[in-house]
Amino acid sequence: MSRRASILATGSHVPARILSNEDLEKIVDTSDEWIVSRTGIKTRHISGPGEYTSVLASRAAANTLAAAGLAATEIDILIVATVSAEMTMPSCACLVQKELGAIKAFAFDINAACSGFIYGLSVAEKYILANPQLKVMVIGAETLSTRVNWQDRNTCVLFGDAAGAVLLGSSDQGDGIVAEKLFSDGTLYNLLYMDGAQSLNPALRNEEFEGSLIKMVGRDVFKYAVNAMENAVRAVLAQAGVAIDEVRLVVPHQANIRIINKLTQKLGVDPEKVYINVTKYGNTSAATIPLALDEANREGRLQSGDYVILCAFGGGFTWGATLIKWQ
Ligand code: COA
Repeated sequence: MSRRASILATGSHVPARILSNEDLEKIVDTSDEWIVSRTGIKTRHISGPGEYTSVLASRAAANTLAAAGLAATEIDILIVATVSAEMTMPSCACLVQKELGAIKAFAFDINAACSGFIYGLSVAEKYILANPQLKVMVIGAETLSTRVNWQDRNTCVLFGDAAGAVLLGSSDQGDGIVAEKLFSDGTLYNLLYMDGAQSLNPALRNEEFEGSLIKMVGRDVFKYAVNAMENAVRAVLAQAGVAIDEVRLVVPHQANIRIINKLTQKLGVDPEKVYINVTKYGNTSAATIPLALDEANREGRLQSGDYVILCAFGGGFTWGATLIKWQ
């Protein structure tokens, strides 16, 4: 049986504070009806004071370690996918390492926006295939509430804060990452981006500058997201020689219920097999897939030997899909 990088345990964490559509009606000119009909989102979790991205990430990782029955000192590599770390340097992953006491690990961040978690899985897989002894923690964590313009109704209703994680190790029982395909197209960066706090950013010298906030051309993003994820899923299934009907669960990036429904329809997959929790959490970027995977796992939606497809799309543009055989 071929050796694969397998998910040993999952975990997640969301901040306690919930912001409803009714709460948003008091902040911007919007309505529950508009938000639900265009996005499917009803609530999102928002970090409170001190609940930084590294804090959410550490809690998700601690829950994952508890589920795996492993100590933090047993982690060899710690990867955090994020675009909303509280510091540019050190990496969010180093802050998580400190918080967990994962002294043996080397730690670094990945920026692939909403696709960051599946990019992280891909990197983890390569290390594990090279050295089966390794245990790798991959975390997707965001506090996008600190990066949206709360005056911009086009974007502020869409996003939320959360973290999710998986612990990976080697398996020779056939379970693990079967196939994956990652893509990027930097020529389309200006359809979804966040100004960075970089020295090249002239706005930083402007006294009016109000921070590095998300900017998006929603309609264009919508169209690209559906087509890109459909093609990525088809490519991965073809690579593995697996039919869509053989897949037990599709865990798509949770940006918008209409994107997910359109993808479901185009793939011709039974909607019962598509995991949806965007209703509760909104778009938590790199955290959506590991958070959804952890919920699905804890709900008993995954049995040993099941095929699970993850697919993501995000700023960059970045996108891709991962086919996993559940452990
Ligand atoms: N409440 C009320 N009205 C709103 C609103 C809000 N929160 N946000 C936008 N509107 C208004 C717009 O101002 C516009 O008004 P106008 O026609 O008077 O100018 C109108 O609603 C329609 O806007 P439009 O952008 O055409 O709506 P849409 O049907 O495309 O839906 C999105 C907007 C953002 C929900 C949709 O484009 C989308 O989901 N895009 C993908 C976004 C995404 O998921 N990005 C992350 C991917 S990782």
